[in-house]
Amino acid sequence: MSDTPADRPRALVVYESMFGCTESVTRAVVEGLEQGGVDVVVAEVRDAGRAGEEEYDLLVAGAPTHAFSLSRPGTRQDAVRQGARPDRAETGLREWITALGPDEGRHRPAAAFDTRVTKVRHLPKAASTRAARPRRVARVSPVSR
Ligand SMILES: Cc1cc2nc3c(=O)[nH]c(=O)nc-3n(C[C@H](O)[C@H](O)[C@H](O)COP(=O)(O)O)c2cc1C
Repeated sequence: MSDTPADRPRALVVYESMFGCTESVTRAVVEGLEQGGVDVVVAEVRDAGRAGEEEYDLLVAGAPTHAFSLSRPGTRQDAVRQGARPDRAETGLREWITALGPDEGRHRPAAAFDTRVTKVRHLPKAASTRAARPRRVARVSPVSR
């Protein structure tokens, strides 16, 4: 007997991506969740405001590493100067997480992932380090380029 949609857990996957790398990792994350029987709502961070108000059982957030952390307006502008689309610089995961408030993630499972350059892979600080703080959030950093 298969689960009805009402039985299945729901996940909200929010991502930021200036050049498309984190977006493609997000697609793989969504695919994995769906294969695991999870109903997924996926939103680019600029569109995630309304999605964030919906009921969900799991939050997954992904972002590129900028200056050893989550992006800021200035680092996104740097990315635009390097060729990223200007509309992608409007907001980022740091702003979205801040707007959620400090209690988000305390009572609901959450996970964070990031992308970063291969050369500095061994460095401890990355976007998911910041996204997971101060919440108790599972953190993965599986992909770099
Ligand atoms: C302004 C800027 C700052 C960056 N800072 C770092 C960094 O501190 N550490 C790192 O490993 N990669 C850094 N990167 C590289 C990105 O994290 C990496 O290319 C990422 O995969 C890009 O993801 P996206 O295509 O989703 O934007 C930086 C890139 C930019 C544009």
